[in-house]
Amino acid sequence: MTDTVDNFVAVAAAADLPDGTMRCVPIERERVLLAHVAGRFYALRDMCGHRNAPLSRGRLIGTIVECPLHFAQFDVTTGRLVDGPISADVPSYETKVEAGVVLVRR
Ligand code: FES
Repeated sequence: MTDTVDNFVAVAAAADLPDGTMRCVPIERERVLLAHVAGRFYALRDMCGHRNAPLSRGRLIGTIVECPLHFAQFDVTTGRLVDGPISADVPSYETKVEAGVVLVRR
């Protein structure tokens, strides 16, 4: 999915990402983590700022995404660091769902 309207990019069918799961959705050349938590979709840069590990290969625990490499934890709803060997948050992106399609703002 690559349609772009008002800087929103269609990235996935909402039905393809069950609640409590996450996956990487490439947007242009960037890896974006798309997570579905409690009926809402959240998008973060899919790269931990510590050693650049792909967060989408970690664990999603409620609203916390845990880095697979050294276990830094981020709030998937905001990108804020919760715990770990790093001091930087992860950028987050606005999302919306229209006609069953998840869109991420770039
Ligand atoms: S790469 Fe994520 S905590 Fe080290």
